[in-house]
Amino acid sequence: MSVLSGKKVLLGVTAGIAAYKTANLVRLFIKSGAEVKVVMTPASKDFITPLTLSTLSKNPVHSTFYDTEDENELWNNHVDLGLWADLMIIAPATANTLSKMTNGTCDNLLLATYLSAKCPVYFAPAMDLDMYKHPSTKVSLDSLQEFGNIMIPATSGELASGLVGEGRMAEPEDIVSFIERDIVSKLPLKGKKILITAGPTYEAIDPVRFIGNHSSGKMGFEIAKTAANLGAEVYLVSGPSHQKVTHSLIHRIDVKSAQDMYNACHKYYNDVDVAILSAAVADYRPKNVASQKIKKKDASLTIELEPTQDILKSLGEIKQKQLLVGFALETNNEEENAKSKIERKNLDLIVLNSLRDKGAGFATDTNKITIIDADFSKKSFELKSKKEVSEDIINEIIQKLNA
Ligand code: CTP
Repeated sequence: MSVLSGKKVLLGVTAGIAAYKTANLVRLFIKSGAEVKVVMTPASKDFITPLTLSTLSKNPVHSTFYDTEDENELWNNHVDLGLWADLMIIAPATANTLSKMTNGTCDNLLLATYLSAKCPVYFAPAMDLDMYKHPSTKVSLDSLQEFGNIMIPATSGELASGLVGEGRMAEPEDIVSFIERDIVSKLPLKGKKILITAGPTYEAIDPVRFIGNHSSGKMGFEIAKTAANLGAEVYLVSGPSHQKVTHSLIHRIDVKSAQDMYNACHKYYNDVDVAILSAAVADYRPKNVASQKIKKKDASLTIELEPTQDILKSLGEIKQKQLLVGFALETNNEEENAKSKIERKNLDLIVLNSLRDKGAGFATDTNKITIIDADFSKKSFELKSKKEVSEDIINEIIQKLNA
């Protein structure tokens, strides 16, 4: 999945011959899952039609502050457009538009939108080689980058004039991958490795039966997705779960029993920066696992249980650089129990949910949590979807990592 998926991309088209390539650029953004809106300078319509770009972007395309053909003469609000965007890309960016952007001129809708945008702005210059080399263009390119805009450099090759040299707009594929790489490099968890446990464990009684619990794995999988979307490489150790995940940064390790989960966690723990243990691990397992199916008898059946290893506690005991996060699902004395777990298991954070709260716990799509840290300072959150809860948890972790 592209990092552009779900992003709102505002494409500004100016009057260069490379404008004809923006049809492909819009297609590529749409293919990557982005939502696209296009603003054009009036002169750029000589190079590609608004109809082409609105058809491909599935959105109206504007080039003036109001549409003259529209009898209501509705104002095209540049401020709204600028604030709507998660990122703006001006491609092709002509010498004229670059100069106006540098000086804060806003005599068309595109320039007014650029000045109103609060999001990252990329620009892909395109012009003839002598224009590209001109000292005034250099001033524009340098100043715009000093203002924080991001340049996607022009390349060398055959130009519209027939001359060969620097000034060709980067190809649409290269513009998209440039932006994707730039976004990834700035993600807050880029370069971090995170171990996450999820789901229940199954403790075998005999070859066909087990002791398990109702955990669906939803919470852990959401945390994994949120962390990966923010750039982390995730080792997701999951007990039996129907949850699905396809993300290039998530390595899923399927396990069954608490012992399997313990082994997998210890395999990856030394290498990670953060471990988040959200799995509902069985505290006990049958002492003896029958090798044959246990046959029904008239007498009652007693199965002797022995404790499993506490994975979280074992990781707390060997903790070095890792930020260790545990979960506590409680029914009473919630905060006291959670605080005692922080101490007993040597945790940096604990995510507490109470079964007394409606909508919290297993197999629901929602959760209501309180996050407590090692100094016992706490933050309580509203009832939210598990996706939003995962964002709160990961935000808290990012703050701790940056503290
Ligand atoms: N946990 C674990 N390994 C176990 C049991 C629990 O890693 N064998 C982890 C869970 O993933 C969770 C945390 O420990 O992050 C809290 O689990 P819980 O069962 O609530 O805590 P316990 O220490 O077992 O305490 P109690 O049974 O008293 O609630």
